[in-house]
Amino acid sequence: MSETKNPALPEVPPSGHAGNEITRRDFLNEITLGALGIAGLGSVAVTYQYFSPNVLFEPSTTFRAGNPDLYPVHSVTFLQDQQVYIVRMPEGFYAVSAVCTHLGCVTQWKPDAEMIACPCHGSKFKPDGTKIAGPAPRPLPRFLISLTADGELLVDKLENIKPAQVLKV
Ligand code: FES
Repeated sequence: MSETKNPALPEVPPSGHAGNEITRRDFLNEITLGALGIAGLGSVAVTYQYFSPNVLFEPSTTFRAGNPDLYPVHSVTFLQDQQVYIVRMPEGFYAVSAVCTHLGCVTQWKPDAEMIACPCHGSKFKPDGTKIAGPAPRPLPRFLISLTADGELLVDKLENIKPAQVLKV
């Protein structure tokens, strides 16, 4: 007996479900593929992070402090962004760290008393960084200061210099 098709009934695919219906097996396959894709992306991200260099970008320790004429003789100028005092005395220029050697507070220039004072525990320093009083164990460091080829002051915060060294301009 031969099989005849009834034109009034929809054609059923051989898998046993209608064309647009999603079976449980298809659903589970798609969920599995999605989970594998997410896990794969995660492992690629972790691998990339592992192989990329672990570099810490820090600001430069050398900076330009402008033309020497900006600083009058007998002046102490606080450069807040660098936490450095540019001091100009008759003998020349020097750059003094504004960070207290006790526990690292930022000091303040007191023009009336002509000294640098630490607000945290009361250490006091002369404009050249020499310690006057307080718990600070050392004077304020002095940094190398020089002139660039175009005549600006250049401070290197990595180079500490002896108190006797000044930049004569
Ligand atoms: S941090 Fe300056 S005196 Fe303590």
